[in-house]
Amino acid sequence: MRQYALGNHAWGDRPEPINLGQPTFGEEELAAVAAVLDSGWVAGQGPVGRAFEQRFARLCGTTAALALSNCTAALHLGVIGLGAAKGDEVIVADYTFPATGHAVRFAGAEPVFADVRPDIWTVDPAAVEAAITPGTVGIIAVDAFGQPADYRELREIAGRHGLWLLEDAACAAGATYQGRPAGSLADAACFSFHGRKGITCGEGGALTSDNPELLERARKLHFFGIESAFNRTGSTDLPVPVFDELGWNYKMSEIAAAVVSAQLEKLPALVAARRHVAGRYAELLSGADEFALPAELPDRTTVWQSYVLTLAPQVDRGHMATELRARGIQCTIGTYASHLQPVYGSRDECPVSADLFRRHLAIPMHANLTDSQVETVAKAVREVVRQAS
Ligand SMILES: Cc1ncc(COP(=O)(O)O)c(C=O)c1O
Repeated sequence: MRQYALGNHAWGDRPEPINLGQPTFGEEELAAVAAVLDSGWVAGQGPVGRAFEQRFARLCGTTAALALSNCTAALHLGVIGLGAAKGDEVIVADYTFPATGHAVRFAGAEPVFADVRPDIWTVDPAAVEAAITPGTVGIIAVDAFGQPADYRELREIAGRHGLWLLEDAACAAGATYQGRPAGSLADAACFSFHGRKGITCGEGGALTSDNPELLERARKLHFFGIESAFNRTGSTDLPVPVFDELGWNYKMSEIAAAVVSAQLEKLPALVAARRHVAGRYAELLSGADEFALPAELPDRTTVWQSYVLTLAPQVDRGHMATELRARGIQCTIGTYASHLQPVYGSRDECPVSADLFRRHLAIPMHANLTDSQVETVAKAVREVVRQAS
């Protein structure tokens, strides 16, 4: 299978870098794109996108899905559709890519950040409960690096307080929680198909839900606020859409839909390959004093969007990253402590998330890693972490 790596530039005599993330593309994606180009329908809302929505909803166990330009768009439409407006408070898992908090702000509401569990880094239900005020309207949980949050507890809290619950499943396509698929664990869920995710079309996203009104409103708002001309009834001649609400252009192109449809077919194999890498890392890296390995809880499955080490406090992460990169091994932070990002001006306190933000180091994780590359990374991590301690 042909593969197209991200960020492999000229490296002279040095060994090829081991990428942090890398998509797995082959002839199937090329054939799917060729068919779309031949068809002439390359913009959004075409038959390939519609078919993808049906198949993605089936994967998620929901009645419907909406294909979108990215997950941030899905979060924005999800927050609006579930009901958040100016002055409302929405409780957001703190340890996340800040698209989650941004979406709340896009709707004019205020994100209130809740701290996360120290073991799997998803929102701590007790912190959610403690953050509820009379102004709270909803909760956004994040499936951290592809592992679902505590939805049983979160649904119970949401139900008791009359709040909605949104699942940020950006990294979690194919994950499960207590036997149910990610995407079906809350009132609605949002996915990303960005290049570092388990399935990708470069940039892309989806909104899933069992709520037909929510999906229909999102479908209208993702297309400037008009009904699709083809959906309008009662027109006997030339259908002319009416702009009766301010929407956005959040459509997924048919080209992207073709790529992500081919990726969806491969999802089980891609998850299995990542699981194999995680298993090898666990064998090769266990027992070190200088870092802890990521955990997967018995009642849920992660899809290993990232493989993140929690470094001991004495480890100099910057030094470690410099040394790994010098050996051609890419690495990065885990994700962000949202409450520390100046854009929010937050006074919330989330000490666990703040600590993870400083101590997490993501090492290469993707479905194309060979056993030999995994061994190279593990050996380098063990050597470099000693120098950095
Ligand atoms: C948890 C989380 N939410 C939202 C996003 C935003 O996704 P997108 O880039 O598709 O808008 C990301 C992207 O990394 C993410 O990790």
